Amino acid sequence: MPYTTSDSAPPLFTWEFAADPYPAYTWLREHSPVRRTTLPSGVEAWLITRYADARQALADARLSKNPAHHSAGAHAKGRVGIPGERSADLMTHLLNIDPPDHTRLRRLVSKAFTPRRIAEFAPRVQELTDRLIDGFSARGEADLIHEFAFPLPIYAICDLLGVPPEDQDDFRDWAGLMLHSSGGGPRTPRGRERGSRGGVARSVKKMRAYLAELIHRKRADLGDDLISGLIRASDHGEHLTENEAAAMAFILLFAGFETTVNLVGNGAYALLRHPVQRGLFQGALRRGDDSLLATAVEELLRYDGPVELATWRFATEPLTIGGQVIEPGDPVLVVLAAADRDPERFTAPDTLDLARSDNPHLGFGHGIHYCLGAPLARLEAQTALSTLFTRLPDLQLAANPDELRWRGGLIMRGLRELPVCFTREGS
Ligand code: HEM
Repeated sequence: MPYTTSDSAPPLFTWEFAADPYPAYTWLREHSPVRRTTLPSGVEAWLITRYADARQALADARLSKNPAHHSAGAHAKGRVGIPGERSADLMTHLLNIDPPDHTRLRRLVSKAFTPRRIAEFAPRVQELTDRLIDGFSARGEADLIHEFAFPLPIYAICDLLGVPPEDQDDFRDWAGLMLHSSGGGPRTPRGRERGSRGGVARSVKKMRAYLAELIHRKRADLGDDLISGLIRASDHGEHLTENEAAAMAFILLFAGFETTVNLVGNGAYALLRHPVQRGLFQGALRRGDDSLLATAVEELLRYDGPVELATWRFATEPLTIGGQVIEPGDPVLVVLAAADRDPERFTAPDTLDLARSDNPHLGFGHGIHYCLGAPLARLEAQTALSTLFTRLPDLQLAANPDELRWRGGLIMRGLRELPVCFTREGS
């Protein structure tokens, strides 16, 4: 429901807001586009909601990614809400550092995480997708988050990194607990442990120990996987240290996991809620027209993307955004979901238009921290959504949309569950 008064700010970060934040973002863009807000954690931050301001902020070198620049007291210093952030050795990763360290690490990882490696991975993503659909296609109903969107990226990134198949279910369990920590995730298949702070800390610790051991083993026996690529990558004779390689593997897992769960989940949900657009999508798939598939995934990223807010930035000197002065030490959060619905940049921004061609959305960010995993994310989402709607053509939502629960995390936007029904395959 749109907000009608111009003088009272809508409530943010409530459960109603989580279900549909877009009316509140419209209000902010129109009335208070650079707004100082107290977050549920008690930390104060500037929320940036207009497209032009968002682009400027994402590329502004005066906004540091290093939490040490946060002016808040010692209790908040350095805490940005990423699982594992207390584990200092895992935190020297791309999303927490600035040039020149960022430039060096990004260049090194880019040598291993190449678009070519991702393209070669396409048949494996297709195989994983089909195997997951095989798991529920004869049943006539499924929870698409728990049975499809959640396992796909975990198995995909484990395969890419070179985690042996017999260890991948451990990763699935650890990832399930980490998802709980961001506002509730699916059940872990091999246990009922909730995402308590202790449980998440234990998962991160286990994952860290496992990755250190794996890197150690691979160093002695280099293969064709991404971890071996990270170990091999060098720049002017400089290599990643074992700690840096472990932190890199961890951020690839972390940054590529919940985002992909939500891209597939939010994407499938948007298609199910827009029958005309869904009809065009399925029509193009039947004709083998892949051009709509590519624009469709970009539009799903814009319309209801997985990353609602970009990660934290901190002013290192006074700067002005949208006419507002930001003081050194102030935290800044760029609201990608609001910027991507800005009518100043997008025609009919609240309309889902899968064929939209002028679509420079900020769903993957912008500037030097632009998503490193974008080619993998696109591959996974295109494969998952096209296979799902081809194999189960009459897929339908099996719940009232008002009853679906959204996760309440600050950065990510995604459903806790997505119940669907369909005609059983083979019947
Ligand atoms: C599925 C959809 C995905 C979305 C919407 C997404 C979105 C984003 C965004 C918005 C950023 C920039 C954050 C900021 O500037 O604060 C980012 C950075 C990053 N993403 Fe993704 N991501 C996705 C998938 C992936 C995947 C699959 C991987 C890797 C396996 C990945 C790895 C990374 C990394 C390493 C960074 C940090 C880059 C840097 O700081 O230089 N992402 N992503």
